[in-house]
Amino acid sequence: MEENKREERPVSYSATESTHVLKYEDINGQGRLFGGRLMAWIDETGGMAAMRHSGCHVTTAAVDNLQFKRGARLNDTVVLAARVTYVGNTSMEVRVDSYLEENDGRRYPINRAFLIYVAVDENGDPVRVPYLLKIESESEKADWEGAMLRKENRRIRRQEGF
Ligand SMILES: CC(C)(COP(=O)(O)OP(=O)(O)OC[C@H]1O[C@@H](n2cnc3c(N)ncnc32)[C@H](O)[C@@H]1OP(=O)(O)O)[C@@H](O)C(=O)NCCC(=O)NCCS
Repeated sequence: MEENKREERPVSYSATESTHVLKYEDINGQGRLFGGRLMAWIDETGGMAAMRHSGCHVTTAAVDNLQFKRGARLNDTVVLAARVTYVGNTSMEVRVDSYLEENDGRRYPINRAFLIYVAVDENGDPVRVPYLLKIESESEKADWEGAMLRKENRRIRRQEGF
């Protein structure tokens, strides 16, 4: 498919939220949210955004960056917000922000992650993402520029043998 034939979808088209009230099975030995559980939710929520944007099956290719900023405890409400930040040929970068949400609606960041998903066919082979990303705001522009920087950093790290 020619590049100029790809239609655009706005970031809002695929923006995805998921909400979790922390239960005993989500908690580790220190009484805080188990990091691996949060990582699974991040991957699921991010994957949903990539699937909605592309309309394709997707697979997780990489977690570029994932930072735990603050813990959460039993019965806390954790909200994950995912949005596509960059679309390449077959890959998409998705940013997932995780928050602790208080009863009054205030949100406190607990994690930020960037993941790369690849659109795949029924055999698991990469296919072109049918839609480019329509950038509509300054923050979306900043996300896109950050994604380009992370892409370049990955290229340098590959050269360094990581
Ligand atoms: C992800 C996967 C489909 C990529 O297949 P591949 O044959 O390596 O494909 P390519 O080298 O052509 O890369 C395809 C795209 O993915 C990107 N990509 C591949 N590996 C990447 C990585 N480690 N980090 C960032 N991007 C990556 C490429 O840059 C390319 O992007 P573009 O098409 O937008 O330019 C393949 O490696 C795979 O199936 N991995 C396992 C995925 C999986 O099982 N995930 C679940 C984990 S439990």
